[in-house]
Amino acid sequence: MSKRQRTLTEPFKIKMVEPLKITTEEYRIKRLAEAHNNPFLLRSNDVFIDLLTDSGTSAMSEHQWSAMMQGDESYAGATSWERLEKEVKDLTGMPYIMPTHQGRAAERILYGILGGKDKIFISNTHFDTTRANIEFTGAQAFDCLPEDAKDPEKELPFKGNLDLAETEKLIIKYGKENIGAVILTVTNNSAGGQPVSMQNAKDTRALCDKYGILFVLDACRIAENSYFIKHRESNFENKNYREIAQEMLMLGDAIIMSAKKDALVNMGGFLTLKDKKLAEQCTNLLIISEGFATYGGLSGRDMEAIAVGLREVFDGDYLNYRIKSTEYLGKHLNAIGVPTVKPFGGHAIYVDAKAFYSHIPQEQFPGQALVCDLYIKGGIRCCEIGSVMFGKHDENNHLIPAAFELVRLAIPRRVYTQSHIDYVIDIFEELTEEKEKSSGIKITYEPPFLRHFTAHFERL
Ligand code: F0G
Repeated sequence: MSKRQRTLTEPFKIKMVEPLKITTEEYRIKRLAEAHNNPFLLRSNDVFIDLLTDSGTSAMSEHQWSAMMQGDESYAGATSWERLEKEVKDLTGMPYIMPTHQGRAAERILYGILGGKDKIFISNTHFDTTRANIEFTGAQAFDCLPEDAKDPEKELPFKGNLDLAETEKLIIKYGKENIGAVILTVTNNSAGGQPVSMQNAKDTRALCDKYGILFVLDACRIAENSYFIKHRESNFENKNYREIAQEMLMLGDAIIMSAKKDALVNMGGFLTLKDKKLAEQCTNLLIISEGFATYGGLSGRDMEAIAVGLREVFDGDYLNYRIKSTEYLGKHLNAIGVPTVKPFGGHAIYVDAKAFYSHIPQEQFPGQALVCDLYIKGGIRCCEIGSVMFGKHDENNHLIPAAFELVRLAIPRRVYTQSHIDYVIDIFEELTEEKEKSSGIKITYEPPFLRHFTAHFERL
């Protein structure tokens, strides 16, 4: 018999608990029907394990909570802002820092200025709010992922990379003056939480320099990305995680960060820029829509918590536990025959719903079916990243499906213990046994943008 491995233990203990309500399957069937089969419309109180997102769901540390007590709530020039600004400057090397209430506010400001009709944006994969903020200006957003990264089974170290050859082709096709920006999202959330290599970031910088194009880094999971670089890319084994992040961030012309991920807070974000003129334009929009330049929609206490979180997240024990615990879920799901994107991402495991529910055609949204089944069977909430989120319609109103039909099990930072994760694996095991019973789904209502948030569905 093989030797049992040591348990992966959380590098923290619990000081305050948040009770979870245990519900029955019968109860959950009713709640899901009321929510039109869309878990975004459920009440969180009716959810047992919430894997909807890793965004804004972190448990803060005692250091963050105590820093919050020192929040300076002055309208202008708050000491909390000075603290955050210093921390972000040190991390990014950028001269102009703007606080925003979350990542998409920074996106709206930056892409609102860079975008517009006839503009083109190119990214390894645009996250949904990134794409929406770009398309909302009338611009077009192209995803450029290397061909072999599109195979969910293929084990490659940096499947989040930008395809530089394809990017260059697009630049030439549309003309460099029409490219709003090239955006590198690290890690690449919509493509399975896969990392981007330092080499790819450097090559992206060089390509942008060649054509005089602005290079934006979406850095909301930069610490997790640094973990993968240290352990997968040569010449980084002796650098610490923060140094690796600094090296990558300094390559950009602009950085957008949703602090709700790797800054370990519940709300916040920022935009940083190298260019003074662009920073002035952004500051004007920031003041009109978010708040004065030294708080941008954040309380002083929020800024304190971000400043502390941005340090804590690079702690080696934390990052090791974080990535290994995600891997634990992935490995055990694979072991019971649940297909996932490989290698495992940093913040989430992406189940290949098309392969898991191979009897449900893409037009009937196998991912959404699995999301609903996970809630009914186990009170687990998660989100579809497939044709509900990214599918389009052709002129005959037929579905143009997304490249993948994934279900994302996003893991909140420092919130669930291994027994919660084991429970998720148990529920998958039960679903595996009765796969054939599951049926497809149709959309009965959808809004024009970001339909997955508010759409209504019916079981076929
Ligand atoms: N960029 C990426 C790569 C993201 O994952 C997100 C949010 C944003 C930008 C927007 O940031 O939510 O602070 O406005 N992702 C969340 C998720 C919502 O569940 O993956 P935000």
